[in-house]
Amino acid sequence: MSQNSVLFTPFKVGAFTLPNRLVLAPMTRSRAQNPGNVPTDSTVKYYVQRASAGLLITEGSQISPQGVGYIYTPGIHTEDQVAGWKKVTDAVHAAGGRIFIQLWHVGAISHPFFQNGELPVAPSAVQPKDVKAFTANGMEEIPTPRALTTEEVKATVEDFRQAAKNAKEAGFDGVEIHGANGYLVDQFIQDSTNQRTDEYGGSVENRARFALEVVQAAVDVLGADRVGIRLAPTGNMGGIHDSDRLGTFSYLTEQLNKFGLAYLHVIEALPGHPMAAKAGQQPVGPALRKIFKGPFILNGGYTQETAEHALDNNEADLIAFGVPYIANPDLVERYQQGAALNTPDQATFYGGDDHGYIDYPSLQEQTAEPELKQDIIQK
Ligand SMILES: Cc1cc2nc3c(=O)[nH]c(=O)nc-3n(C[C@H](O)[C@H](O)[C@H](O)COP(=O)(O)O)c2cc1C
Repeated sequence: MSQNSVLFTPFKVGAFTLPNRLVLAPMTRSRAQNPGNVPTDSTVKYYVQRASAGLLITEGSQISPQGVGYIYTPGIHTEDQVAGWKKVTDAVHAAGGRIFIQLWHVGAISHPFFQNGELPVAPSAVQPKDVKAFTANGMEEIPTPRALTTEEVKATVEDFRQAAKNAKEAGFDGVEIHGANGYLVDQFIQDSTNQRTDEYGGSVENRARFALEVVQAAVDVLGADRVGIRLAPTGNMGGIHDSDRLGTFSYLTEQLNKFGLAYLHVIEALPGHPMAAKAGQQPVGPALRKIFKGPFILNGGYTQETAEHALDNNEADLIAFGVPYIANPDLVERYQQGAALNTPDQATFYGGDDHGYIDYPSLQEQTAEPELKQDIIQK
């Protein structure tokens, strides 16, 4: 393991010089198990434990009551949530870290359980496939959503604007627009889920409009150097697809260049990863890397070795790590030292208590008490 690896060199992202090229990928952990979906003291600890990453991106956080699709996910639309997140950002900053919040509206990937008995909303009435809603009643069938009116689309852009204001008030260094994985922004971009006939549907210019208006709203509030966007051009979540993914995402990326954003974050998982492109699907990430004139983050199945390879080959400037970060809060130090990694426990990824959330030991703790690691695996 090379300590001189480019992984551990600084890189400028928007308003910040990151000390290394590792990014904590946004990950829903469903621990805001309280009536207001407010981040808790455990949330504070979770992010502080990971503060040595070049950049932390929080779990997807709903921008409005309508934007929710999973139980116990935190929001960024109430005063209590802002106050809860303020504790997180203060503590991460005190620990020397930088943290962006991922702004999330799930669109169709929701359930009447979360919507006062009403249907979830989406660009068009297209039922998501092969995905279930996780409510207090367990896994439930997702119904066909209701198409938003044009006025409601514009109001949703304003919800993103308000969420960006709330993020600023909560002390975040910036925001990441969740434009990936088949959620609302992605549902507008791709033509399998966008069959609208107004200014937000039809041509690629119209399908990109919602994403670009949401980005503009966040840029208005925070400045472009504090706004990033995440896209998944080859993702298939909820059965989402586009008749011309390369063309659609290339157009969108060209338009994103006009803002001078902090970064573009692309999920294009390596072969063999559950999120990897299906057989026969062409990769889109390399084309977007060439088009985008700013910091480029890649994610999906990376290890230290494959991350170093991607950086050395100029495929990306930064690599986001998801699952490796769940079990290894000090992933930077472990990679630097060539240390063994803790094994993530899938049973505690979503929901539950502090076990599997904030009790994975750091290397330092493990060296002091070797039995800790055994303990966590046996539980
Ligand atoms: C438990 C879990 C929760 C996730 N939640 C989110 C999320 O809130 N927002 C998002 O954009 N991606 C989410 N993802 C996807 C990850 O950010 C990442 O793209 C994926 O895990 C692949 O990267 P990895 O191979 O490094 O884990 C989640 C993944 C996992 C495992």
